[in-house]
Amino acid sequence: MGLNLNPRLRPPPGVRRRPPGDFRRPPPGDFRRPHPGDRRRRPAPGGGGNKGIITPYGVHEGVFKHTSIKGDALVTKNMVPGESVYNEKRISVQNEDGTKVEYRVWNPFRSKLGAAILAGIDIIGIKPGARVLYLGAASGTSVSHVSDIVGPTGVVYAVEFSPRSGRDLVNMAKKRTNVIPIIEDARHPARYRMLVSVVDVIFTDVAQPDQARILGLNAKYFLKVGGCCLMSIKANCIDSTLPAEKVYELEVERMTAEQVKPKQRVTLEPFERDHACVVGGYRMPIKIQK
Ligand SMILES: C[S@@+](CC[C@H](N)C(=O)[O-])C[C@H]1O[C@@H](n2cnc3c(N)ncnc32)[C@H](O)[C@@H]1O
Repeated sequence: MGLNLNPRLRPPPGVRRRPPGDFRRPPPGDFRRPHPGDRRRRPAPGGGGNKGIITPYGVHEGVFKHTSIKGDALVTKNMVPGESVYNEKRISVQNEDGTKVEYRVWNPFRSKLGAAILAGIDIIGIKPGARVLYLGAASGTSVSHVSDIVGPTGVVYAVEFSPRSGRDLVNMAKKRTNVIPIIEDARHPARYRMLVSVVDVIFTDVAQPDQARILGLNAKYFLKVGGCCLMSIKANCIDSTLPAEKVYELEVERMTAEQVKPKQRVTLEPFERDHACVVGGYRMPIKIQK
């Protein structure tokens, strides 16, 4: 049987669908099949009802699952109701008291962080109120969801060196007051040290052969002791001559050399081929054996 992916999570036009692959670890909730029981939750004729239900997504605070007759979708609560960032679908859900809350569908084919969550990563450190340094922000697709998650009490420092992507990022940040766009090279954190305070999490998605070193440099400047490091690995950007699995192992070793203690690794199939995401803790206290 083919992979019956939720139509809202299909790759964007022009992007080739990955062959159906197995999740290494199935995510909590099945994002591939509609839930027959949810038919009962259809809005009443004439509207007014909730179109589906929202539930927290696993252990990830600020990340939700929208379940409807069309299937499940990963969503975040929109910081800027009425606005999409990359043409993603918005879902308005009515609370029991009549107030409405808007969510944005998080497309895992467009976001490595979204894919990592669906692939079963247990810790991301990104939660309401968190301070996040995001390296390789591009136009801000994933950054916008991180902004939704951390909410008004958190902050996302988004570093991107391409002026073209940087323009979109800056425009996105005009409406999202918790995003600080930084158009700089992440290899030179000294250049933006005056803009960034101590952070709880660094997420890096720069797709560069020296990305572990870039992560380590930024961690030295900005990451708190015990902070969370997330690194997206695109195997052929690191070394196209080695099998992906070997590249992941080498990157984990390089992270360890940067004082990051790896805790979990997930591959991003079926959303991205030959990609992985590793999470680790920075300068973790050494446990003294008695
Ligand atoms: C794979 S894309 C990131 C996609 C993005 N994380 C998302 O999910 O929406 C990698 C990005 O990193 C940026 N990049 C690469 N090297 C960089 C560096 N040294 N400093 C800042 N940005 C860098 C590239 O310009 C590119 O936009």
